[in-house]
Amino acid sequence: MRTNYCGLISEQYLDQTVTVKGWVHRRRDHGGVIFIDLRDREGVVQVVIDPDTPEAFQTADSARNEYVLSITGKVRHRPEGTANDKMISGKIEILAKEIEILNAAATPPFQIDDENISENVRLTNRVIDLRRPQMQNNLKLRYKVAMGVRRYLDEQGFIDIETPMLTRSTPEGARDYLVPSRVHPGEFFALPQSPQLFKQLLMVAGFDRYYQITKCFRDEDLRADRQPEFTQIDLETSFLDENEIMDITEGMAKQVFKETLNVELGDFPRMTFADAMFYYGSDKPDMRVSLQFTELTELMKTEEFKVFRGAADMKGGRVVALRVPNGAKLSRKDIDEYTKFVGIYGAKGLAYIKVNDVNNISNSEDSGLQSPIVKFLSETALKEIIAKTGAQNGDIIFFGADKAKVVNEAIGALRIKIGHEHGAENGYFVDEWKPLWVVDFPMFEYDEENNRYAAMHHPFTSPKPGHEDLMESDPENCLARAYDMVLNGWEIGGGSIRIHRADIQEKVFAALKITPEEQQNKFGFLLDNLKFGAPPHGGLAFGLDRLVTLMAGAESIRDVIAFPKTQRAQCLLTNAPNAVDDKQLRELGLRLRVKAENKEA
Ligand code: AMO
Ligand code: AMP
Repeated sequence: MRTNYCGLISEQYLDQTVTVKGWVHRRRDHGGVIFIDLRDREGVVQVVIDPDTPEAFQTADSARNEYVLSITGKVRHRPEGTANDKMISGKIEILAKEIEILNAAATPPFQIDDENISENVRLTNRVIDLRRPQMQNNLKLRYKVAMGVRRYLDEQGFIDIETPMLTRSTPEGARDYLVPSRVHPGEFFALPQSPQLFKQLLMVAGFDRYYQITKCFRDEDLRADRQPEFTQIDLETSFLDENEIMDITEGMAKQVFKETLNVELGDFPRMTFADAMFYYGSDKPDMRVSLQFTELTELMKTEEFKVFRGAADMKGGRVVALRVPNGAKLSRKDIDEYTKFVGIYGAKGLAYIKVNDVNNISNSEDSGLQSPIVKFLSETALKEIIAKTGAQNGDIIFFGADKAKVVNEAIGALRIKIGHEHGAENGYFVDEWKPLWVVDFPMFEYDEENNRYAAMHHPFTSPKPGHEDLMESDPENCLARAYDMVLNGWEIGGGSIRIHRADIQEKVFAALKITPEEQQNKFGFLLDNLKFGAPPHGGLAFGLDRLVTLMAGAESIRDVIAFPKTQRAQCLLTNAPNAVDDKQLRELGLRLRVKAENKEA
């Protein structure tokens, strides 16, 4: 019988006989003495096997990496000078008496402690990869966070209610994953993009406070912080307003950070969406970087320089400056690299001014401003730029001029890149947790592709009191009772106060150009039930994977998910998705229009 976990044997067990079971992490043959580092969930313990115990010695001699062993022996001090203070078991070792091989292991595809394995190899051999201490720690942290969340929400009176996985699609803006119905040929279930409508219906049903830690499915373009199936901490409440919901969920974040990382997050500042876009070009600003945009659109409307004037005069155009303290020392090469970088976001160039002498502002040859563009700008404008940005000698000022979307994305990304690269040594980056709420989101955003308005959060979000009529008269300026929790530049949660009256809900659908027939067909079950005394309600959903990624300091969301999909939405371990045989298709009433490439059924 196992008496202890390997990684937890401390000096407290000195002179005791213990039995441990685990995997051979490392095996070293030191001329006559064999050392085995045996590993289990809790860590590694050093085992010494002496030739004086010939049977154990022979077994140890035949053991290889990743063999599964049972070892019984006596705990003793490690010899003078060989202790490892970083490990609980670092001061002791086990002198083996008996060793049994519980299972042999084929040579693993890579060493467990090799840090330089490509992600494809790791994902293909995920089981071996999950043995790595880092992955074990990530998944343990994920569990602790989930448990902390459950404890907190339970204390706050939330109850966990499951909602269906086979359902009608709920529109959260992504494509649905569809599941064909065998019983109803030609018809499909959709996997939920979130439990949104069900949780609202649970409020109508009177459950008052619901939560669930649940899978959501979205067929969308994947990035480092997105997975096709991901986990939400989803919650909904009745009779609370946005401030009360933000307080409860902020409390949850604070408690979980305190319990798991011993970090005090402090009170979260609140920023309007308008301010976030104005100062940072992003609705999820990374507040560890203190650089801000300076608005120049108005100023450039009277300038000759075509690049700036064109953007300033354009409908929906924007011109901003980004002052970078001590940036004048950036080289030509650095600036070229940043120019290429903003190009990824559609910027057609990256104008800049190096500020050498603020007491010599002119557009002439001997100006204290060094830049290919000063000669195109008036002296008044240059003085304004220096005054508005607060630039000092030694700074550089970058400029973005284009459609607001391009400027915001390009200069917003540049702000973060420069902040992370040069901010720490120049005083505009702090390595701290920087949470905030972004509030007062617009109800709608214009969908250029389809030439119509789309819901910015989702179509069940309530307009701000007093903004109901703007839905029709001035949709651009209609604000929503929606809020996002942002941490270090990541949107980790989002929610809203919902519409609890069927007539207002119908108005929003109308603003979104969803016809009454479509409304009834798609959302009849919601509209009908809102009429049976729906309480005012609202909630929020956190992305658990994102939250844990940040807390673990992991590089990608895939590092905190046991069996994730690749960027191309595949599971390399099981080779899903895969072709299925004809019989399965026939049963489902399906015929394929395309054949899967090079894949077995
Ligand atoms: P939303 O769509 O904002 O809101 O999602 C909530 C949170 O889920 C996380 N998230 C993701 N994480 C990983 N991969 C993805 N593909 C992905 N998509 C979203 C984000 C996000 O903040 N029903 C509403 C919530 C509500 O209104 O209560 C909803 O789903 O961290
Ligand atoms: P050009 O007139 O295209 O040679 O550009 C003059 C300067 O303005 C160069 O430094 C370009 O990198 C920069 N520039 C061009 N287009 C933009 C833009 N849309 N936003 C910011 N800078 C730009």
